[in-house]
Amino acid sequence: MQNKRSWAEPYKIKMVEPVRMITREQRQKAIEEAGYNTFLLRSRDVYIDLLTDSGTSAMSDRQWAGMMLGDEAYAGSENFYHLEEVIREYYGYTYIVPTHQGRAAEHIISQLMIKEGDFVPGNMYFTTTRLHQELAGGTFVDVIIDEAHDPENQHPFKANIDLQKLEDLIKEKGPERIPYVTVSTSVNMAGGQPISLENLRQVRQLCNSYGIKIVHDMTRVAENAWFIKQREPGFENWTVAAIVKEICSLTDAATMSAKKDALVNIGGFLALNDENLYNLACNMVVVYEGLHTYGGMAGRDMEALAIGITESVQEDHIRARVGQVQYLGEKIKAMGIPIVEPIGSHGVFLDAKRILPHLSQDKLPAQSLAAALYLDAGIRGMERGVVSSGRNKDTGEHIYPKLELVRLTIPRRVYTQAHMDVVAESVQAVYEEREAITGLNFVYEPEYLRFFQSRFAVI
Ligand code: F0G
Repeated sequence: MQNKRSWAEPYKIKMVEPVRMITREQRQKAIEEAGYNTFLLRSRDVYIDLLTDSGTSAMSDRQWAGMMLGDEAYAGSENFYHLEEVIREYYGYTYIVPTHQGRAAEHIISQLMIKEGDFVPGNMYFTTTRLHQELAGGTFVDVIIDEAHDPENQHPFKANIDLQKLEDLIKEKGPERIPYVTVSTSVNMAGGQPISLENLRQVRQLCNSYGIKIVHDMTRVAENAWFIKQREPGFENWTVAAIVKEICSLTDAATMSAKKDALVNIGGFLALNDENLYNLACNMVVVYEGLHTYGGMAGRDMEALAIGITESVQEDHIRARVGQVQYLGEKIKAMGIPIVEPIGSHGVFLDAKRILPHLSQDKLPAQSLAAALYLDAGIRGMERGVVSSGRNKDTGEHIYPKLELVRLTIPRRVYTQAHMDVVAESVQAVYEEREAITGLNFVYEPEYLRFFQSRFAVI
């Protein structure tokens, strides 16, 4: 008989936070009051919260100890210098500007680099990133490979950039109208899919030949590095830390939402290699965030982040983190329920188009499925489809994306395997009753990032 050897979470639990499940009648009332938008639910009404992996992870005892070493000086906090040192060591960028979270770094870099009429190519859009590019006068252009838009395609690096699409754009618009290319690692909207180092090196070469910069959205860079180690020939024996640093070395600047990979509840930064750009960013950060040595973060939060970065690239951590997502994905897949494949790094993405083929996209299938899932057992996911896509900035029409998904996002170090089992069972129960789902209509829609605050009614 084969001797099976499982791996387990590389931690034990020291403190617990009770969760509770309210009754179905209470959930019905809660989702109605939330306008069928899971962002508008109160967290006390949620049983297992898979809304996001952003700021929802559990910190380690080391990080909590670091919190006690917060140097809350307005200027020149010790924790800033520690954070700067760690970012230089682990990511290799020269200058850092702390920000309260990722979108603040996106705001600064967009305002500094994009001019009215510019085009900003990227490997699929992210909601806040694209909005800041548009607010700065730019137009986002998707240059990800076509495979990324197909939930069934098994390409191991669905976040790769289509070099032909990128070069065609550069030739059509002229390199002077392209301030930079956004390269995201572990592309969120594609389902947590990685970019390969081979592709990134080719993108670097192409950009060099036209003098175009690369800005790296490094929110989930360690998760991407883990997939490279697993899948890309030649990297099997590299450490995740070395792969992370190699990725960063191929880019000119980075925006980071530290609330994901880096294991903190709040924080982010802008990282730069260009001194001139750094000086301009320091000047902007005092207007919108705070002094350049805290940028909207408390000293204690910068300390927790410095420690979180070192933990995020540890092999046993990242194996267990991505492994838990794979566990849930495999379970749902085995039930015959359509999900995005390959299973991503930070969540399992239910394919609402294939689960609810009786709903056309204007009936908001993913939003409807997320609401139904909450109703079944209090599990909160998030719509990543037409509602998240928003409207075309010129025509005002809905943008209908190919991917119409519900994201079940797994916080890091928070839930156990038993929670994952409960989630899979609930997804199955909803799947069996899927024909009863009739779709939703907008009843309120805000101007920016509408998925956060829109309200809906059942059709
Ligand atoms: N880039 C990516 C790839 C992200 O996933 C996020 C946030 C941001 C930038 C913005 O960072 O929230 O710190 O301002 N994603 C969250 C999510 C909101 O749920 O996926 P932020």
